[in-house]
Amino acid sequence: MTKGDTGFRYTYRLRSGLPAPSAPWSGLAKYNFATGHNDRSHIPIGPLADAASRVIKRHGADLALYNMGKDPLGYQGLREFVADKLAQMRGVQSGADNILITSGSLQGIDLVNQLLLEPGDTVILEEFTYSAVFGKLQKLGVRHVGAPLDQAGMRIDRLASILEDLKRRNVQPKYIYTIPTIQNPTGSILSLERWQQLLEVARTFGVPIFEDECYADIIWRDGAPPALYGLDPHQVIHIGSFSKSLAPALRVGYVAADWEVLGRMLACKTDGGTAALDQMVIAEYFGANFGSHLSSLSEMLEDKLQTLIAALEQEFGTAVEFWAPKGGLFLWLRLPEEIDVRTLMKPAAEAGVTFNPGPDLSCEPEAAKSCMRLCFGLPSKQEIREGVAELARICFEQTGIPQRGANVARRTATISAAE
Ligand SMILES: Cc1ncc(COP(=O)(O)O)c(C=O)c1O
Repeated sequence: MTKGDTGFRYTYRLRSGLPAPSAPWSGLAKYNFATGHNDRSHIPIGPLADAASRVIKRHGADLALYNMGKDPLGYQGLREFVADKLAQMRGVQSGADNILITSGSLQGIDLVNQLLLEPGDTVILEEFTYSAVFGKLQKLGVRHVGAPLDQAGMRIDRLASILEDLKRRNVQPKYIYTIPTIQNPTGSILSLERWQQLLEVARTFGVPIFEDECYADIIWRDGAPPALYGLDPHQVIHIGSFSKSLAPALRVGYVAADWEVLGRMLACKTDGGTAALDQMVIAEYFGANFGSHLSSLSEMLEDKLQTLIAALEQEFGTAVEFWAPKGGLFLWLRLPEEIDVRTLMKPAAEAGVTFNPGPDLSCEPEAAKSCMRLCFGLPSKQEIREGVAELARICFEQTGIPQRGANVARRTATISAAE
C-alpha cells in the first residue's frame, strides 16, 4: 500500500480508458530544468501581500458570491488591465468585454478545443510545440500535422503546402495552433513578413488561427510584431497567461476573442468562476508595477540564459547546437544524432537533473530524439552551472559524448578506476 491508499472498494467501477495513475509526488529535482517554473526570488512577496490585503478590505464581502456577484467573464479590474496591456503592447484594440479570464491558459486551450474539435478532426501545430497540447488532442481523438519552424517562426510556405495537401484529401483542419511570440520551445518570434502571410494563408484556406501568447510578456529587446489577434480579430482566438509574467501557481490566464466565440466559451466554462482573489491580486499588483516587474524579470532571465549557454558551451563544446531564444524561459537544443535523450532521463534524474526530452514536444517524436528543452526559470545561476556539468557527465557516461568538458578530455569511470 502506498501513502493515501486505503483500498477503495469500487476501483472496478472506474471507467475504461483512463490515463495511468499519477506517480506519488517525490519532490523537485535539485537541478530542475524541466517544466516552465519561474524564479522564486522574483515573486514580489511583500507587494503581493499588500495587494491582497487591500483587495480583501475593499471587496472581501463579495467573496460570498460566485463570481463575486458580477460578470462571469471575470473580475472587471483584471479584464480592463488585460485589455489595456493588449492595446499598449500587442496592438489589440478590443476592450474588456472581449476578455474572458480563465483558470490558467490551459483552461483556455481546453475551451478552444471544446468549441471547435470533434473526434476525427485534424489541426495544424508547429513541428515543436507545447507538450500538453498532444495529450489533449489525443484524448479528443484529434489528429495533428506539424508545420516546420525556423529561427523566424513557422514556415508559412510549408504551411501553405500542408494546407494544399490536406485540401486535396478533403481534410479541413479546424485550427492552426501557433505560439508566434516567444515560441515554446524554440523561443523564436514570427517575423512581420510571415505574420501577414500567415493571416493571408489561413484566410485563403478558411482556417481559424489559435494564437497562444503565453510568453509574449517576456521579450529581451526589440519587441515583437503585434499579436495576430490585433490585426484580425475575426480570424484569430487569442490566449495569454500570468503564469510566466508573475506566477504559475496563481492559475490565471485569459482568452481574447470575438463575442460570438467568447459567449459560447463562457457557456462551456462550468467551473463556477476562476479564483477571484487571485484575479484581484494580479490586477492590483500589476496595475501599479507591470512595467517595472517585467523589465527586472526579463533582465534576470536573460542573465540566467547567458549563464546556461556559457555552461553548455563549456561542458558540451561543439556537441550542442541551440536555437537562440528571444525571450521566455526555455533553451531548445540538439545533441548529436546518435544520442537519444530519453535514455539520459533516468540516470539524470538519479543524479538530481531533470529536463524535458525533445520527443515530448515534437509532432514527430523520433525526429526530435536528440533534442531537449532546458528551463532556466527556477534554478539559480550556481545550480545552472552545476546541473549542466552533471548532465554532461551523465551524457558522457551513457553515450561517450561530449568527450571534452571545460576543455579537458573526459574519462570513463572504468578507465579512471583502472588507473
Ligand atoms: C505555450 C503554452 N501555453 C499554455 C501554457 C499553460 O500555462 P498556464 O495554464 O499556466 O497559463 C503553457 C505552460 O507552460 C505553455 O507553455
